[in-house]
This record gives sequence, structure tokens and C-alpha cells, in this order.
Amino acid sequence: MAAVDHGEQLDQRGNGAHARARGRSAPIRFLSGGKVIEIENVDPCKSVLNFLREDLRRKGTKEGCAEGDCGACTVVLGELNGDRVELKTVNACIQFVPVLDGKALFAVEDLRQGDGALHPAQQAMVQCHGSQCGFCTPGFVMSLWNVYQDNVARGTRCGDAELRTALTGNLCRCTGYRPILEAGQKMFDLPTVALDRPQLAARLRQLRRDSSLVYESEGRRFHAPRTLAELVAARAARPQATLLAGCTDIGLWVNKQFRTLADIIYIGEVAELKRMQARDGALAIGAGVTLSDAYAALVKHYPQLRAMWERFASVPIRNAGTLGGNIANGSPIGDSMPWLIALHSRVVLASARGTRTIALEDLYLDYMKKSMEADEIVAAVEVPLPTPDLRFRTYKLAKRYDSDIAAVCAAFALWLDGDRIVRARVAYGGVAAIPKRAAACEAALAGRTWNEATARAAYAALAADYTPLTDMRASQRYRAKTSQNLLWRFYLETRVAAPLPATALDVFSAVAEAA
Ligand SMILES: Cc1cc2nc3c(=O)[nH]c(=O)nc-3n(C[C@H](O)[C@H](O)[C@H](O)COP(=O)(O)OP(=O)(O)OC[C@H]3O[C@@H](n4cnc5c(N)ncnc54)[C@H](O)[C@@H]3O)c2cc1C
Ligand code: FES
Ligand code: FES
Repeated sequence: MAAVDHGEQLDQRGNGAHARARGRSAPIRFLSGGKVIEIENVDPCKSVLNFLREDLRRKGTKEGCAEGDCGACTVVLGELNGDRVELKTVNACIQFVPVLDGKALFAVEDLRQGDGALHPAQQAMVQCHGSQCGFCTPGFVMSLWNVYQDNVARGTRCGDAELRTALTGNLCRCTGYRPILEAGQKMFDLPTVALDRPQLAARLRQLRRDSSLVYESEGRRFHAPRTLAELVAARAARPQATLLAGCTDIGLWVNKQFRTLADIIYIGEVAELKRMQARDGALAIGAGVTLSDAYAALVKHYPQLRAMWERFASVPIRNAGTLGGNIANGSPIGDSMPWLIALHSRVVLASARGTRTIALEDLYLDYMKKSMEADEIVAAVEVPLPTPDLRFRTYKLAKRYDSDIAAVCAAFALWLDGDRIVRARVAYGGVAAIPKRAAACEAALAGRTWNEATARAAYAALAADYTPLTDMRASQRYRAKTSQNLLWRFYLETRVAAPLPATALDVFSAVAEAA
């Protein structure tokens, strides 16, 4: 039996003692169904979804796509942030079991009340006819439960926008969503059933490790260092190991490409990498900070990033995935790199030899090739804070608003002295093998007056900057044309005389992009 259920009894020996008693490998321990689950001899790359269904025989959580897209597998993780419990939805199909260590896992079975009654999130779905075939329902219910618990804890009820955001990661082929949205309001009208957060916090504190987790099974090792020094030492010792952050890219290597990963070094427990701090005129974001937290902090300085934040995948993906993982993966169609490059962000690389900081654009050499040594990790990204002379926008073109990969991403940053462009930085994704600056376009902008003639010259120059590909997301012609149209949109939104508000331009750009 791989999983041991310890019931209400929590082993008080501490995890270090456990590891010593058994040699190097320690069991994974987490809370589920109100009990401590202790795991040994489970493949470190087994998904939480498969573990729930196959090992715990809890089959409420469903598999739809196995790639983080549909939300049928949505579960909620509870973890300590300081002394507070935070709840967040994640896609169980692309999370590995050892990541559960020290956390609480909530699946749909956990919503049943002591007397067998449904939770308000479930009862409201019944009353509003929010379920037809039912395959998506457990996932929706978990997203509803999460947003319900967060609102109940704050003494609020969620508005329509918050509810829609919470459900961005859940797809339903049957209901048309209206009944589900109604259920999301109705659940607050039913008698309140709140999670006992202080009790959960106390139990999670008991699970806290006093040293890093090293878990070995089936000849493979999952190491979760707790300090940067420990992480870079582990990386130096095993440069071939897979560095794991939020698993939203890596999960697909296993599920879709059927890759077998050897050793894994998990960065999600490294305290230094989970920090954000303003220093030297920049916001430094540790590589372990989730996309949800990173973008939440960034939009306070750059409200222009809000649409990009909302359009980056879905809430469960943003709750697990990291900005560091987006940068390290370096996909040419990743959302964050164009605006990070346009803002002249720097990336901090760390190894046992020390740290070095380089401009982000210098990280990318060629398709999936980076200027990183085998023993280096991405430790942080430093995003310069805005200055009053900056005009900045970033845009994403994709077929769907939520949860879709971009055909083209563009970012523009101009530093103006009056109406004169002192400095111009323009970067695109989706139009070259790497996220890349538009050198000819920038040259057509720098030193000129920010007016229609300059915008037209830059529009023409852009044609020399990229040779886009045709693929399943878009044709070469579409990418070339829309790249230019996005520049034109930027001009209309930021021109010195009478800039158009972004909302007015949505209609215009839809027409221009189709042209
Ligand atoms: C359904 C779905 C939708 C998505 N939508 C979008 C989208 O809209 N826009 C977008 O840009 N991306 C999207 N992605 C891709 C993915 O979510 C992002 O690239 C995410 O930022 C990856 O972060 P992660 O922490 O999950 O990385 P992981 O999957 O853990 O790792 C990704 C890569 O980076 C490496 N890595 C991670 N951290 C470090 C580090 N600190 N140092 C060195 N190497 C490291 C890993 O070894 C691996 O090679 C989507 C993915 C899914 C499954
Ligand atoms: S099964 Fe579709 S998101 Fe996990
Ligand atoms: S009820 Fe059938 S997929 Fe949602």
C-alpha cells in the first residue's frame, strides 16, 4: 500500500526524525479528508489526479484533457502563508504528488457535511440546474467552493466579475454557463458553511518540516530545498535534474509527451525565491512567486498589465505557475516576455558560484536556447518601476479571451520628453523563434516626435523586423499585419494630442486586425 492514512493522529516525531529513521528518503505528508496522508513508494511524477482516483479511490475528481485546460480536475490546496491559511484552485492533472507535502488537499468529496448534506456551493448548483452531464461539475464546484470560502472569510459575497474570473479555468459543454453563474450567487443565500481556518492552520503548522524534503521512489528523487544556498548546491550536484516550479509546462511533458523525468529539484519551498521587494527603482520578483501573486503586485505599478494578467491562462494555472517558470521556459509565445523586455527588465541567475544579472533579452539565444550555464537557475526578475515620462502598453492576440495561447503578443515602451521620444523599446512574441526586440521599429521611433508621421514610419519599419511563421494559431500574413496594427493601436492610445481610451479602441482594433 503506497498511501498510509494516519487518521486524526499526527506523527509528532517531526519529518527530520522520519527521514533519519528511514535513511535519506522521507515520506510525503499532507492533509486530505481531515486526515494526515503519508505516502511512500509512489512515482514522484504521479499526478495528484491519478493519486486521488487510483490510490485513494476518490473518483469524484475527473480527467477531461489532462493538460490544464478544461478544469474537470480542479482541486483546492490549502497552505500556510505566515500564520494564515490560503486556499487556491489548481489543476490536479498537472501537479505532481510530492508538491502536496505540508499542504491540505480538498477534493469534491470533502465538501459533504457531517450529516451528509451538500455544501452550499453544491446545493446551489442543484437548485439552479448548473449540472447536466455532470462531467465538469466537480471542477466547477471546487472553484465555487474556493471563491465562497474566501468571501465568507472576508465577510463579503462575490460580485459578477470576481465570480467569472474564478471560473475562467472551468469549461462546460452542456449548460451554457448561465445556471452556473446563478449558482455562484445563490450559494451565498444559503445557510453559511465556513471552513474552520484556525483549526486548519494549526494542523498545517504540525505538518511543517524542519528540514528540506528528499523523497525517493522507483529510483527517482524529488528534492525540495528550503534555502537558495541549498538549491544551488543541489543544482551543482545534479545539473541534469529537472528544475520544477509550478509544473504548468512540465506537467504536459509527462502527460502529453510521455517523457520520463529522472531526478526533480523543486523550487517551490525556497524561501528567498518566494519574495517580492522594491529595490533600486525596480520590483524584484523571486522565481518561486506564482503568476497570480506576481501580476497582482505588478498591476499596482502598471495598471496597463491588467488585461494581460486576466488573459494569462486561467486562475488555477496562474495559482500554480510562476513568472520565473514563464521566463525560464522562454517560449516564443509566452505572454510575459515581450512586456518584460520592453520595460528593460533584468533577470538574476544564481549558481553555487554566485549570481549575475543580465538584461532579459540577452537570456534568449535561439529557439529554446538560453544563455544559462547548466548549474544556473533563474532566481528573480527585476522589473523597473514606471516613471512619469513612460508610455507603455502590452497586447495579446488569441482566439479566446481566457485561457488561450497567443498568436501574437506585443509590448511598447516610449520615454518621452514632451512629445519627443527619448528612448523606445518594442518587443514581440509569436513572430520569431524567441521573444525579440524590434530593432528597425525602435530606430524609426527614437529621437522623433511622437506623432502620426512617426507612427506610420515605425509601422512600415516593423515589416523588416520579423519573418513570422504560419502555424495552427495564425498565418504569417495575419501575424505580420496584426503586429503592425498593434503598433498603430498603441499610437492611438498614447499619442500626445487626444489619446483614445483603450475601450474605444477595442472595436477599432477588432476591425483593423481582421483587415
Ligand atoms: C492550460 C495552460 C494554459 C497556459 N496558458 C498560458 C498563457 O496564456 N500564457 C503563457 O505565457 N503561458 C501559458 N501556459 C504555460 C505556463 O503556464 C507558463 O509558461 C508558466 O509560467 C510556467 O511556469 P511554471 O512555474 O509552471 O513552470 P514549470 O512547468 O515548473 O517549468 C517550466 C520550465 O522552466 C524551468 N524552470 C522553472 N523554474 C525555473 C527556475 N527558477 N530556474 C530555471 N529553470 C526553471 C523548468 O525546468 C521548465 O523547463 C499555459 C499552460 C497551460 C497548461
Ligand atoms: S483534466 Fe482538464 S484541466 Fe485537468
Ligand atoms: S454539465 Fe456537461 S460538461 Fe458541464
